[in-house]
Amino acid sequence: MKLWVGLCLALLWVELQHGACQQVKRRKDIGENRIRPGGKRVKVRPAKPKDGGGKGQSLLTQVLDKGRFLRPGPISTLAPGRNMELRCKGNSIGWSYPSHLDTFNDSRLSIKPSDKYGQLILTSPSAADTGPYSCWVIVCDGSECERDHERTYVSYIYFTDKDNLFVPSAIHFEIVYLRPDRPAVVPCRVTDPRAKVSLHREVPPEEIAANGTQVTYDPTKGFVLQNPSPEYRGVFYCKAVTKGTPQISTKYQLLYVEVPSGPPFVGLEASPESVGGGDNVNVTCSVLGEPEVDVSFTWSYPGQGRRPVQTQTSWRLVNRGMSHTTRISQSVLTLEDMETIDFGNYICKAKNQNGETIVTTSIVSN
Ligand SMILES: *[C@@H]1O[C@H](CO)[C@@H](O)[C@H](O)[C@H]1NC(C)=O
Ligand SMILES: *[C@@H]1O[C@H](CO)[C@@H](O)[C@H](O)[C@H]1NC(C)=O
Ligand SMILES: *[C@@H]1O[C@H](CO)[C@@H](O)[C@H](O)[C@H]1NC(C)=O
Repeated sequence: MKLWVGLCLALLWVELQHGACQQVKRRKDIGENRIRPGGKRVKVRPAKPKDGGGKGQSLLTQVLDKGRFLRPGPISTLAPGRNMELRCKGNSIGWSYPSHLDTFNDSRLSIKPSDKYGQLILTSPSAADTGPYSCWVIVCDGSECERDHERTYVSYIYFTDKDNLFVPSAIHFEIVYLRPDRPAVVPCRVTDPRAKVSLHREVPPEEIAANGTQVTYDPTKGFVLQNPSPEYRGVFYCKAVTKGTPQISTKYQLLYVEVPSGPPFVGLEASPESVGGGDNVNVTCSVLGEPEVDVSFTWSYPGQGRRPVQTQTSWRLVNRGMSHTTRISQSVLTLEDMETIDFGNYICKAKNQNGETIVTTSIVSN
């Protein structure tokens, strides 16, 4: 009996050794041939963890004091004020973290690579740093590197602060756009997942009940309104309570956007329409669209490359009454001192994330 056990262990040992050798060899391959038959990317797997965690075991760890480690789950709750150190196993690691840490170029955040792990340190975290922290293994094939989606780990970290039940925001009055074709989010996130949160309209005062279908609350996102209708226009705020006094969030102006998403809706006009040699002309290409959708313009015109013209692009939001908002994006092409070569067709191509629209107008000699 004992002999059998010994033999099995020996076989297992050989297997493990063999496995390890293969890994080393594969690692070398990565840099050697960029295009492999079949185009399959080699995945360098970490050695199987002994504790039987199996596939998907997180490589993200939190370093506690005195060299103790903790593996944060998908959600973790930490006390603010105490420095946080996260590590992620691997020699090439990418990170993501709440975006305000980049926007304000926060010196409290430091990210350092090392041979064996990537390290993220955030000093004196506060309620505002609540959010998703994520790391992933970067796999390189020659000079091309990409994120290994199978080895991406995320922990949503709450820095629970009883004086800041809502994650503080730099903006005190936020605008939320309601569109008929997609969910809208009132982003009142909390710093304590146990907080009871409700949504309120300011005038007339009314609580909007989260009922699990049309209106739901997710502490990592806020209130999610499915297929929002114009009835949700107005000023809203959230209220949160754990123990003690309830707290109020910043205010949110909910605006209904009626313009459907699609390629830009473009208008093109020349002013004046009819000109003679030596005149000045403005050709204006305008797009009416959703407030957050960027539009880019390209022009084609008769004197292209043969004479200087000026183009100026701008956009502004226009309030169309009753909390309806649209964005007007414009490109103005200015021709000074018209010459013979300038008469003909002026073509404006406007492009947004959904497509492009081409419109033409012609400038004729009077
Ligand atoms: C961010 O900070 C670093 C170092 O403190 C500095 O080199 C860099 O220019 C800053 N970037 C911006 C956009 O302020
Ligand atoms: C949830 O609320 C919405 C709007 O307030 C309502 O239209 C819907 O019928 C409600 N659903 C349930 C299951 O109560
Ligand atoms: C063209 O637009 C500019 C800037 O808006 C304006 O000052 C100018 O008078 C316009 N010219 C014509 C011919 O409309």
